[in-house]
Amino acid sequence: MFISFEGIEGAGKTTALNYLADLLQSRGHDCLSTREPGGCTLGRNLRSILLDARTRHLSGRAELFLFLADRAQHVAEIIRPALEAGQVVLCDRYTDSTLAYQGYGRGQDIDYLRRLNQAATGGLQPELTLLFDLPVRCGLMRAGERNRAEGLILVEGRFDSESLDFHERVRQGYRALAEEEPQRVAIVDAAQPPEDVVLQCRSALEAHLHARGQSLDGTAIPEEGEDDDT
Ligand code: TYD
Repeated sequence: MFISFEGIEGAGKTTALNYLADLLQSRGHDCLSTREPGGCTLGRNLRSILLDARTRHLSGRAELFLFLADRAQHVAEIIRPALEAGQVVLCDRYTDSTLAYQGYGRGQDIDYLRRLNQAATGGLQPELTLLFDLPVRCGLMRAGERNRAEGLILVEGRFDSESLDFHERVRQGYRALAEEEPQRVAIVDAAQPPEDVVLQCRSALEAHLHARGQSLDGTAIPEEGEDDDT
């Protein structure tokens, strides 16, 4: 099973990802938590270029291809082998980030980006995407506090310092993507307190599994009437 976590900065994706990983592990699943950019060795090098606030004069196209290079290597080296080994993969950002940031945010053509995502991943799509949605000001404030506390303003602050308009376009882009694919993308109200956010994530996961006739511990849900005589 492949699950991605998406949303603007400061939406609380990472906390929720850790919570779901613990929940799934406690139900007997073998989980791999990873992220983009930076889920493999090549990606960690690319991450430092892509997110460093001191990176200047990176063209929109160069930025795009660096994210795609990270993704291509990450899928080949980490995600696909883990899925083939039967692990549950939880990925902090994936293809929708490119559509939201480079597409809706930077204005690059969405269909072109879809084709490039397809080429980079060999068509590997998450079966469930949790979209953490919250007002842009609120997310940026949280991300700013976190980066200050962790001393990451310079080394990871390039996107955080984009305009409010940019982040608003990204947020609306994500919502449009969720509307297009409601079976895959579940919207989580990330403005709620963390304990409520994790419960929403759990419900979305359970609903997704239920639709596939499965429960959280991996067992099949009996068809109606199947266990009547037990
Ligand atoms: P990250 O620290 O992972 O995000 P967050 O602050 O939400 O924890 O930063 C990754 C940044 O890279 C984020 O601003 C979104 C951006 N990004 C893209 O623009 N395109 C992409 O394809 C990906 C994967 C990320």
